[in-house]
Amino acid sequence: MRALDHGFSCLGILEGWKGLVEGNSKPISLTDVEDIVKLGGTILKTTRTNPFKREGAVEKCLSNFKKMGLHALVAMGGEDTLGVATRFYKEHKLNVVGVPKTMDNDLSATDFTFGFDTSVSIAMDAAERLKDTGKSHSRVMILEVMGRHAGWVALYTGTASAADWILIPEKKPDIEKMCQHLKKVHARKGVALVVVSEGVQLPSQNGQKEELDEFGHMLLKNREVGESLAKVIEEKTGIETRSASIGHIQRGGPPSLFDRILGMRAGTKAADLVHQGDWGKMVALRGNDVVPVPLSDATKSLKTVTPDWAQFAEIFFK
Ligand code: F6P
Repeated sequence: MRALDHGFSCLGILEGWKGLVEGNSKPISLTDVEDIVKLGGTILKTTRTNPFKREGAVEKCLSNFKKMGLHALVAMGGEDTLGVATRFYKEHKLNVVGVPKTMDNDLSATDFTFGFDTSVSIAMDAAERLKDTGKSHSRVMILEVMGRHAGWVALYTGTASAADWILIPEKKPDIEKMCQHLKKVHARKGVALVVVSEGVQLPSQNGQKEELDEFGHMLLKNREVGESLAKVIEEKTGIETRSASIGHIQRGGPPSLFDRILGMRAGTKAADLVHQGDWGKMVALRGNDVVPVPLSDATKSLKTVTPDWAQFAEIFFK
């Protein structure tokens, strides 16, 4: 809407970078966007296409940018989408502005990305429900959540739902220590909850061959970390253990209040940057302000869980 206030006409590129490669777009008017704040997913759709990994795709993007009569490109996404945007800005001088949108919250240079608060709230609810049913059967319950290289989703979900152990990709799992602790907790409470990030490498999975996507990330769909962990825990503690994976459920549904306001603030600021011609920037939340930061600062390295944060979560493993 802010873009319209500035007098821009807007074109939505469909399916992210794939849309720019193929010249696939649709005009965006006020009626397309005025009521979407409450919707999950994306009305423009998305794919995991990396033009820098496809023969001739970068050239196609550049020529379609011209053909479509674009003045600027606002790229919305996480490290992959914005990594490509950074390269288009640096290597091809494209007029690019970035907006941080990922449920993983793993982009540097911003305190939060929108999508994170919503997805973690859903996972927190799932964790609490698991604990209820686990208590009825005196079991250890495991919730596997998303988060490939960064454990923010697991850390926030587990801490907020008073989990008894949290496993994140940044920290090598200490299975013996965890099992001892779970036995103690289970003896006291009659239930124990573990939250595990899908990207955790279990000792039992070492040497497993990983499939990679176009951005070089391992595909996690066949790893079943939660299920593998359940077997290990059951074996080592003798306590019946069940695992559930929340998977893509945590990527849908109406956005939380926090994400709605952050998304609206980020979008407004991005339109202002385009109006000012301030290219190569990403809009970032710093404290309570939404400010421009260099796109390259956001994408040069992943924002992973720091030791301080991991230690904070462990205070509550009692
Ligand atoms: O990058 C966001 C993310 O949700 C990751 O946490 C997860 O590993 C991945 O996407 C899942 O990807 P896909 O939708 O391709 O299964």
